[in-house]
Amino acid sequence: MASKREIHLGAVPYGTGGPGSHTLWLDPEIPGDASVDVAWFTEIAQLAERGRFDLLFIVDSQFITPYSPPHYLNRLEPLTLLSALATQTSHIGLVGTATTSFNSPFNLVRRLGSLDLISRGRAGWNVVTTGDAGTATNYGLDEHYDYDTRYGRAQEFVELARALWDSYEDDAFVRDRESGVFLDRSKQHVLNHEGEHFKVRGPLNLVRSAQGHPVVFQAGDSDQGRDLGASVGEGIFTHAPDIPSGQAFYDDIKTRARDRFGRNPDHLVVMPGIKVVVGDTDEEAREIEAFNNDRDHTFSAALAEFGRAFGWHDFTQYDLDAPFPSETLEHGRRSFFTQAKAVTERAVENGWTLRQTVEATRYFRKSEFVGSPTTVADKLIEWWEARACDGFNVGVDHPANFRRFVDDVVPILQERGVFRADYEATTLRGHLGLPVPVNRHTAARTADVTA
Ligand SMILES: Cc1cc2nc3c(=O)[nH]c(=O)nc-3n(C[C@H](O)[C@H](O)[C@H](O)COP(=O)(O)O)c2cc1C
Repeated sequence: MASKREIHLGAVPYGTGGPGSHTLWLDPEIPGDASVDVAWFTEIAQLAERGRFDLLFIVDSQFITPYSPPHYLNRLEPLTLLSALATQTSHIGLVGTATTSFNSPFNLVRRLGSLDLISRGRAGWNVVTTGDAGTATNYGLDEHYDYDTRYGRAQEFVELARALWDSYEDDAFVRDRESGVFLDRSKQHVLNHEGEHFKVRGPLNLVRSAQGHPVVFQAGDSDQGRDLGASVGEGIFTHAPDIPSGQAFYDDIKTRARDRFGRNPDHLVVMPGIKVVVGDTDEEAREIEAFNNDRDHTFSAALAEFGRAFGWHDFTQYDLDAPFPSETLEHGRRSFFTQAKAVTERAVENGWTLRQTVEATRYFRKSEFVGSPTTVADKLIEWWEARACDGFNVGVDHPANFRRFVDDVVPILQERGVFRADYEATTLRGHLGLPVPVNRHTAARTADVTA
C-alpha cells in the first residue's frame, strides 16, 4: 500500500441543480432530465475517471416539497444508479448515500455488497441519519427519530453491516468439481444479532469483494455525528468555509478517532465538499462566479429553500426586515439541527434581519477555489498541506467548468507530485490507502491456531 500522502478527489454531480442552485438547469449543456438520465451520469463518471478521481459520490434525500432544488425533485436512487455506472467504468470508486434511519439492515447491506461485487471492489457507503425530518412520514412514522435514536441506530447499523459482510470467509466456496464440494460449511457464519434497535439472524447470502467491505463514509456534524464518524468512518464528508475551520474539524475528528476509539487516524480520510470555478485568469473566474451566483442563487429561491434545515419551516410568513425569528430553531430539532443552530446563532450574534440572514447563507458557500488553473491548484495544495483536509469533494455543477478542472487543474496537481498520474489500484480502498479488513472469523480461527 502506498504510504506517500496524496490528495484524494471526489466528484459530486448535482444534475439539474442541488441546494441553492435552482437555475443551474438553465445551462444549455445540462439536459432538463439530467438527474434521471443514466447517460448524463455516465459521461460525468467517465470524465472523472479520466481525471483519475478516487470516487464519484451520489448524494440522496427522500422528502421533497415544491420548493426543493431541481435535482432533488426528480432523481435516481443512488445504489441503482451506481450499479449501472459500475458497468461503464473500471477504476473510479462509487459512493452512495443511504440512510440508517429508514432502511432495514439486511436489505441495505445486501444491496451495498452487491454493488461492491458488481464494481469489483469499488463501492462506498455514505452513512447518514437523514436530515430532512419529513422523510419519516414516507416510512409510516409521524416524526423523525430524536438525535440519540438516530445516531444509536446508525452506530449499531454499521457494526451489524460489517458483521454481515463477514458471513463468508474468503475461501468458503470450494467449488471443487472433482470432490463435488461446493461450500466449506464451516466457513459460513450465522450472526444472531440482537441489539437495541435491530434483530438479524444472518448469514448474508453474499461473499466479500476484492476490498473486503464497502468503504464506510460518514456525514453529520453534531457531537454524536462526529463520534460516529470517528468510531466507524473511513471517510468523512464535511463542509469547511476556510482553512482554520477545516483544520479545527480535521484535528477534532482525527483526535477523537485516536484517543476515544483507539484507531489509526490515517485510516480516516477527511474530504470537505467544495465549489470550484476555473477561468483563463483569476479575474475571468471571479466574473464567472459572480454571474453564476446571481443566476443560480436568486433571493426568492433562497428564501423558499431557507427552511430546509428547520424541517422545511415556511419563512415566507415573516417580515423580511424584522429581526431574525430565532424561536424557529425549535422546528429544526429533528432535522438538520447543527446547521439550523449555526445559522440562528450567526443571525442573533450579528443582530441580522431575516433578509440579511438569508443573504448571508446565500453566499455561505462563497468559495476560495476560484481562479486560473494555477490559482485553483495552489489553493487545493495549500489546504491539503495545512491539514485542513486529506482531499476534496468537487461539486459538478456547470459541466464546462468540471471539464476545465479535469483538463487544466488535475495535470498541475500531477506535475507537482501531489496527485496520482495514473491509478495504482483497482479498488476504492486501494485509492484511499485504506487497509482491507480481515474477515473476523478467519482472524479468530488464525488466532486459535497460533495461540
Ligand atoms: C457534508 C454532509 C453531507 C450530507 N449528506 C446527506 C445526504 O446526502 N443525505 C441526507 O439525508 N443527509 C445528509 N447529511 C445529513 C446528515 O446525515 C445528518 O442527518 C444531518 O447533518 C444532521 O445531523 P448533524 O446535526 O449531526 O449534522 C449530510 C450532512 C453533511 C454534514
